[in-house]
Amino acid sequence: MPVFSSGIRHVFKRLQRNMTSESLPSHYTLPSGDKIPFVALGVWQVKGAKVGVAVETALKAGYRHIDGGWIYRNEAQVGKALKASGVSRKDVWLTSKLWNAFHAPQDVEAALDDSLAKLGTDYLDMYLMHWPIARKNGEPYDKELTENPYPTWQKLEEMVARGKVRNIGVSNFSVRRLENLIGNPLKIRPVVIQVEINYWFPQPDLIEWAKEHNILVQAYSPLGGTSRVEDTLNVPEIKEIAEQLGMTPAQVVLSWHVQRGTVVLPRSVTPSRIIDNLQVSALPPVLFEKLEMAATSHKLPYQRFNPSKNWGIDFDIFD
Ligand SMILES: NC(=O)c1ccc[n+]([C@@H]2O[C@H](COP(=O)([O-])OP(=O)(O)OC[C@H]3O[C@@H](n4cnc5c(N)ncnc54)[C@H](OP(=O)(O)O)[C@@H]3O)[C@@H](O)[C@H]2O)c1
Repeated sequence: MPVFSSGIRHVFKRLQRNMTSESLPSHYTLPSGDKIPFVALGVWQVKGAKVGVAVETALKAGYRHIDGGWIYRNEAQVGKALKASGVSRKDVWLTSKLWNAFHAPQDVEAALDDSLAKLGTDYLDMYLMHWPIARKNGEPYDKELTENPYPTWQKLEEMVARGKVRNIGVSNFSVRRLENLIGNPLKIRPVVIQVEINYWFPQPDLIEWAKEHNILVQAYSPLGGTSRVEDTLNVPEIKEIAEQLGMTPAQVVLSWHVQRGTVVLPRSVTPSRIIDNLQVSALPPVLFEKLEMAATSHKLPYQRFNPSKNWGIDFDIFD
């Protein structure tokens, strides 16, 4: 009998109750009442004409969630593709992220306005603090605002009150940093944490912690990112399950993520893969458990995406 953390088992059982034998829930209802789609198209590192093709293909295929960010430098193309798709703005979930250089409270609104203008919209469905690092001119970071981002958060709360943003959350925060933030007298709690989660770095403890705190987890680099996607899709358990169920290996991995209760943000610029990646379906319990077990017990060392050193920061961002 495989051993699972009680959190994962609980999330799985809860999802089982809400699903037919083959379907997974398509949306998660946030405390605001907003329904966020479980599968998004990620647009990090997508440049030039490929942005429009990817976003339009996705929207036409039925995606209703785009995961973007100011620093991706493609928000104008995303906005243009949204208009060209003919899909109504109100039917699409748009996430953007506040970049590190704009954490000072006086800079937040201008950064948000810039994203809104480029996307061609007057509100975001979700705005995340991209990293728990407040950059400061001439220094790698602002120690005080990085240790306690409450002043930045208060500005985000104000943006919600003013209708420019509907939901707010964080990305790349460790549990310690998120607990520190929640320890402030918040008017609005973070409803989402977006972090790296994939077969090589499955983070069951974080998922369990977030579940206990009613925070939705979003899995970035869900296929392992460009450098590991091939390894992921060649994992024997994943290939076997794909063959057994008549799914592609990518569909098996993305289905596993959603079945764990996490939103997935696969990125692709390849139309056939974009279409494939939306087709998630429930893995039978025994196969879900087999994959969960393989992901949480393999011994390969894995280096998560961690820019601490590149950014000249004298500590590990994730500590
Ligand atoms: N918050 C953050 O700091 C943060 C950090 C990283 C990522 N993210 C978010 O997460 C999204 C995804 O992460 P990611 O881009 O690192 O990694 P990913 O989605 O795990 O992997 C993307 C790679 O997988 C390939 N791929 C996609 N679908 C495939 C399929 N069905 N079969 C075979 N290959 C497939 C893509 O190739 P092709 O494009 O050539 O098809 C691309 O090389 C980003 O776009 C972004 O929205 C957020």
